[in-house]
Amino acid sequence: MGHPHWPLFDLEVRTPRLTLRYIDDALGVEVAGVASRGVHDPSWTPFMTPWTDHESPDLERNAFRFWWRSRAETTPERWTINLAVIADGTVVGATGLSSERFDVLRSFETGSWLGREFQGRGLGRELREAVLHLGFAGFDAALATTGAFADNEPSLAITRGLGYEPEGRRRVVRRDEVGEIHGFHMPREHWATIRRDDITMTGVESVRDLLAIH
Ligand SMILES: CC(C)(COP(=O)(O)OP(=O)(O)OC[C@H]1O[C@@H](n2cnc3c(N)ncnc32)[C@H](O)[C@@H]1OP(=O)(O)O)[C@@H](O)C(=O)NCCC(=O)NCCS
Repeated sequence: MGHPHWPLFDLEVRTPRLTLRYIDDALGVEVAGVASRGVHDPSWTPFMTPWTDHESPDLERNAFRFWWRSRAETTPERWTINLAVIADGTVVGATGLSSERFDVLRSFETGSWLGREFQGRGLGRELREAVLHLGFAGFDAALATTGAFADNEPSLAITRGLGYEPEGRRRVVRRDEVGEIHGFHMPREHWATIRRDDITMTGVESVRDLLAIH
């Protein structure tokens, strides 16, 4: 029996290698634990919002603030869906989709991270394909966007490898210095050429109802 009021709690995307599941409080403990064990070399950051620069217990508490805030502010006009990434029964990281005015733009942005111990095994690409599947096959999106700092080779390799188109660069603040984000987008027409037939989803219809996706 699913949640009677908040269908996101029952949302799941499954590939042969991993499962994405909406971050509830129990899953959040595990995701925060993976984050606190390290997401990247601390001499550098891949994130615009430097959330991994905080020490425990602030890092975990801020993660919960972010997930609760995202949940509380989820409306058809503007939403962020935070999903845990689970491989072989173990939480390995998180990913998210966000959008504003999806009713008009039919566009969503994705972002992801894996714990350091789980990187470099192809899970990053697999989870990107899963989150793209949710946006395109699940929500009938027209466009997916993403971005990464110019020196984030693994993230850029996944983005380019899947055939996103470059959208340009923008200057942002990164640890109080200038950083350069490379933006990319993928139109639905391209996704249709790379879509996989081994990804399944649960709970999408009720989530579409919550987000008024018609
Ligand atoms: C980005 C991230 C999710 C990628 O996941 P991953 O599982 O480590 O990546 P994968 O194993 O799927 O490999 C990604 C690609 O990067 C390539 N790659 C890895 N390290 C590389 C390096 N140092 N230089 C160049 N290419 C590299 C791999 O060969 C692979 O390319 P391919 O798909 O063409 O074979 C993960 O590394 C991560 O969480 N990093 C820290 C957080 C982060 O940067 N998040 C993204 C913010 S935009």
